[in-house]
Amino acid sequence: MISLKNKRIVLGISGGIAAYKSAELARLLIQEGAQVQVVMTDAAQEFITAVTMQALTGKPVFTNQWDSRVDNNMAHIELSRAADLILIAPCSADLMAKLSLGLCDDLLSTLCLARDCPLLIAPAMNLQMWQHSATQRSAQRLLTDGVSLLGPTSGVQACGENGIGRMLEPSEILEEVVAFFQTKVLQGKRILITAGPTFESIDPVRGITNHSSGKMGFAIARAAVEAGAEVHLIAGPCHLQTPLLSSGKIIRSDVLSAQQMYDATLASKNCDVFFAVAAVADWKIDKPAQQKIKRQGKTNLDLRFSPNPDILSEMAKIAKQKGKPYCVGFAAESDRLGLNTKEKRVRKGIPMIVGNIGPSTFGSEMNSVLIVDASTSKSIGPASKLEIARQLIALVSKRL
Ligand code: C5P
Repeated sequence: MISLKNKRIVLGISGGIAAYKSAELARLLIQEGAQVQVVMTDAAQEFITAVTMQALTGKPVFTNQWDSRVDNNMAHIELSRAADLILIAPCSADLMAKLSLGLCDDLLSTLCLARDCPLLIAPAMNLQMWQHSATQRSAQRLLTDGVSLLGPTSGVQACGENGIGRMLEPSEILEEVVAFFQTKVLQGKRILITAGPTFESIDPVRGITNHSSGKMGFAIARAAVEAGAEVHLIAGPCHLQTPLLSSGKIIRSDVLSAQQMYDATLASKNCDVFFAVAAVADWKIDKPAQQKIKRQGKTNLDLRFSPNPDILSEMAKIAKQKGKPYCVGFAAESDRLGLNTKEKRVRKGIPMIVGNIGPSTFGSEMNSVLIVDASTSKSIGPASKLEIARQLIALVSKRL
């Protein structure tokens, strides 16, 4: 799926060593379907040439506000009117200061002031420069003016110092841009998601779990933030990073057992949509041993199980009483996907369910799903879990 198809992006490059990464960024934006027009400051050209950027984008680069290639000689107006977004990466401390004051003494700063489209900037500078009160003032002013800041992040800097001020990696900036263009169909909505496996203790060192990676639930969390929602992600034991986007924050609670997941979910039951994506253990060990179970002298080991609470069914009951949340369940089936998924939706008492053939999708980046509600069923995939998540969010938003 090409996420930036036909999006017209002015990629502004200012003077900083991170400018060498702008070449990769331009390539990634184009690969994702965007039309990229590069505008460079004089200082940027000390770090990377206009020829490089022209070769990568297939378009002449603009560097001068007196450029006579534009018919009416108003490159600052023409370029900004023709853009859906201006993205400046890297954005130097100097350019941040200029933009925050509305100064416009070169093409890039002038077209930012003349723009009628959103502006995203990816600051990049030495950590002392970033932490300086003057730069922090610029950042605050820009935020107040509605400019979005992507990063900076921490790490080793070109000058050898280590700290905050590094530009986000091109792939991270690309993700931010893709997220920026998602329609905000869940603006102001509170979304609760369970994800990953659960772990039921047998003794202090052993337990029973499953192969769920958590990737589908985390993808839904990301897609929900992209769509403008406030997201609470309740994760079973998995090794995934919480999706990080400048446009919104995911609150994450890490839990181990199904009972803990149940408690965390019920504590956050006041939400608009509940996605039960976790592969929750149906059973827990009746009385986990206090000490490690030793092998000596045993010919067999009996474990007694009792049922775990069904988190989704409980939330569905709350939804019946209160009118919300809108509950979306997941069903990993090994056969008769359509029939089993439809039957499970009714049994759980929920309006929508997403079926897939498991466990082959466990850990994979890709999935194929069948989304079933009372009136329709829709197949999506094979597609990336993030793509499926975005389509699912779009569908759910229409049902709210
Ligand atoms: O009944 P089954 O486990 O197949 O149902 C799967 C759906 O129910 C998933 O959405 C899963 O997250 C949810 N579930 C739950 N609590 C349980 C068992 C399953 O929320 N104890």
